[in-house]
Amino acid sequence: MADSGTEAVDRGMDKIGWARAHMDILEGIRARFKKELPFRGKTLSLVLHVEAKTAALALALKAGGADVHLAASNPLTTDDQVVAGLLSQGIDTLAKKGESAQDYQHGIDAMLAADPDIIIDDGADLVAAALQRGRTVIGSTEETTTGVVRLRAMEKDGKLRWPAIDVNDATMKHLFDNRYGTGQSTLDGIFTATNLTIAGRTAVVAGYGWCGKGVASRLRGLGAEVIVTEVDPAKAVEARLEGFRVLPMLDAVKEADLIVTVTGCLDVLTRKHFAVMKDGCLLANSGHFDVEVNTKDLARLAVRHRKVRPMVEEFTFRDGRKAYLLAEGRLVNLSAGQGHPVEIMDMSFALQALSAEYLVTSGKKLKPGVHAVPQELDDQVASAALQARGIKIDRLSETQKRYLSSWQEGT
Ligand code: ADE
Repeated sequence: MADSGTEAVDRGMDKIGWARAHMDILEGIRARFKKELPFRGKTLSLVLHVEAKTAALALALKAGGADVHLAASNPLTTDDQVVAGLLSQGIDTLAKKGESAQDYQHGIDAMLAADPDIIIDDGADLVAAALQRGRTVIGSTEETTTGVVRLRAMEKDGKLRWPAIDVNDATMKHLFDNRYGTGQSTLDGIFTATNLTIAGRTAVVAGYGWCGKGVASRLRGLGAEVIVTEVDPAKAVEARLEGFRVLPMLDAVKEADLIVTVTGCLDVLTRKHFAVMKDGCLLANSGHFDVEVNTKDLARLAVRHRKVRPMVEEFTFRDGRKAYLLAEGRLVNLSAGQGHPVEIMDMSFALQALSAEYLVTSGKKLKPGVHAVPQELDDQVASAALQARGIKIDRLSETQKRYLSSWQEGT
């Protein structure tokens, strides 16, 4: 039964409350923002996955004086109860789970209509639309590998007209969010979609970037035999020395019980792979866009297609073999699962909040183009993450500092 309005708000606020209770770093920033109001008079448009952790970010920015607008960065990753909760808190939120391509576009349009000073993006769709329509902002922040690849291409073409902060490549983002976040949440999505066992299965991970490393390590931890596919020779060697088998995809699919794509590129699995794929193979994507599994090829090759669970479609080929596509080939971790664990998003969204503040204070001094998160902000989040976990570490003595700086000075 659908939630009544107030029930949805209450459940949404419970989910947001749980997330906030485990996001010590962001909540510390929120308390400071509330006192200092760094965003007073500023409009922030956010295109992010609309779920509980994202709500905590939106509320922290609002506490800092911002007029916050939020739309979905993917049609399948919205939590409708969280949307109800956010609307009850005065955050203009345009998102619905399973929304159409037109509604998705409408969300992007609404974010631009709000006339933002700052854009917070996940995948660079809002930045691309703003640039295309000749808009200008103080700056933007981006949290995905895919989004940063797109921003760098815009910068190279001379199209990026403002400073864009590359949150993805901050140490406190990619080392944890991309690796442990994607590692755990991808498995969460696969469990929820299938209710099947990982142990004893042969799992193929396509792409051995930070996300692929996380997924491969978690699959191995659960007892899968893991094969990695790569196009980058160094990453392929790295995967091999980490103990994984490395194969071309055309060979790997013949053994695979489960394939997870995390390359950021299109056509990782196409007709030629489906033609020789092991019977019963599960297909999951954890890359940003739904282009890694060629679902058109899959549909064309299949003689029968039906939905067998809420997030599982069965495709039967002419020879009787079957393949199972999870979450329509969209981000499995947020479409079928609950996204990255809360404490991981705490670090990522702390960096987003601090980077947005940095743009407000210093954005006008920055040249157009892609900029790294300032080291002191990365360090600040690292120290706060240790403190949140009650971990103490050593400090260099004055003698040690002199020793190290003598090497740096070449003396
Ligand atoms: N939750 C909110 N944003 C997310 C993201 N980019 N990845 C995974 N989980 C998330």
